[in-house]
Amino acid sequence: MLADSRPSEAPKRIALVVGARPNLVKAAPLLHALNKQRGLQVVMVHTGQHYDDAMSGVFLRQLDIREPDVHLRVGSGSHAEQTARIMVRLERYLRQNPVDRLLVVGDVNSTLAASLVAAKLCVPIDHVEAGLRSGDRRMPEEINRLVTDSVASRFFASEPAAVSNLLSEGKDAASIHHVGNVMIDSLVRLLPAAKRRKAWRDHGLRPGQFAVATLHRPANVDDPRRLQLLVDALQRIGKRVPILFPVHPRTRRRLRGLRPDPGLRLTPPLGYLEFLSLMSQSRLVITDSGGIQEETTALGIPCLTLRETTERPITVTMGSNTLVGSDLALLEAKTEDVLAGRYKAGRCPPLWDGKAARRIATILLGD
Ligand code: UD1
Repeated sequence: MLADSRPSEAPKRIALVVGARPNLVKAAPLLHALNKQRGLQVVMVHTGQHYDDAMSGVFLRQLDIREPDVHLRVGSGSHAEQTARIMVRLERYLRQNPVDRLLVVGDVNSTLAASLVAAKLCVPIDHVEAGLRSGDRRMPEEINRLVTDSVASRFFASEPAAVSNLLSEGKDAASIHHVGNVMIDSLVRLLPAAKRRKAWRDHGLRPGQFAVATLHRPANVDDPRRLQLLVDALQRIGKRVPILFPVHPRTRRRLRGLRPDPGLRLTPPLGYLEFLSLMSQSRLVITDSGGIQEETTALGIPCLTLRETTERPITVTMGSNTLVGSDLALLEAKTEDVLAGRYKAGRCPPLWDGKAARRIATILLGD
């Protein structure tokens, strides 16, 4: 139990806003650490940015997240449409149900929209996973990160580079806390259950003898020529090591008509436990995700990232991640290195120990 700093006062209300799949993985340990703390009432708001059972419902269940208190049901749309809908609905809710603080995680449109609303209502904002910067403003997430941090008042950082970025942007050192990685809190808690699940058996795979691939970044999947080149490379690699490819809805629409290939096996999006089970027993992971770069580093699984930049540099400098960008020859060469046992052995970064949310809770309770 964490100490309750103000037992005699009315509980402080904190709104925790989630919207997209990776938010749920990050929010779960925060909810577990903050729930039932005397003096604190957490109002969980789900924007509905992700709404399918496969993208949201299964994550709520597997991560033991209680039913959200508020559903904004915004659904999909262009960036402006989605952001605007979240802002209008959240502003209406917060005007009628004021809160003392807003807690946001990550860098998705829901994070940005909620932060803008809270800032205009003069509600202080705590940003978990603050300070990450890819330097590439063509990524929507980079805009979301910059804007969220420009209006936030307290910053919880997952790696030292994030602290340096925030300091160089002029943030007060006292407002920045290097607490570790909440996404890894979920991994540490659920890895034993994920291993027991043995999800590779459902796909006819053997532990240590398959790869996992994910692709959903607009830069990789929205241009049909680029996507075709990536699929061709994955099919070539699939001849060396079978690849399981859980396909994000954004990518699925663009892969219609792809012929079945025994080396590149497509499946619908997987639940958290199934994916973690597969990732933890894979030979390597090929991805363009942000969070998967971190999860593979925590697991010590080689990760080849199809992006030119990363906002999570510690996964490259210390962990098991390599940026291959759009260089598909490099992707294939690095895959060969992994298969030949020549790939680097990474280490787990400091404070990625399963306790980040507890550190954050201690700071929030100390207000
Ligand atoms: C969003 C985040 C991205 C994160 C990713 C994880 C932003 C800008 N992007 O991207 O940072 O890595 O989530 O998945 O916030 N769709 C469904 N069912 C759903 C949700 C979406 O079918 O439950 C389809 C819709 O057709 C939608 C498309 O997926 O148009 C993309 O969804 P969206 O939330 O706009 O962005 P993601 O690509 O998922």
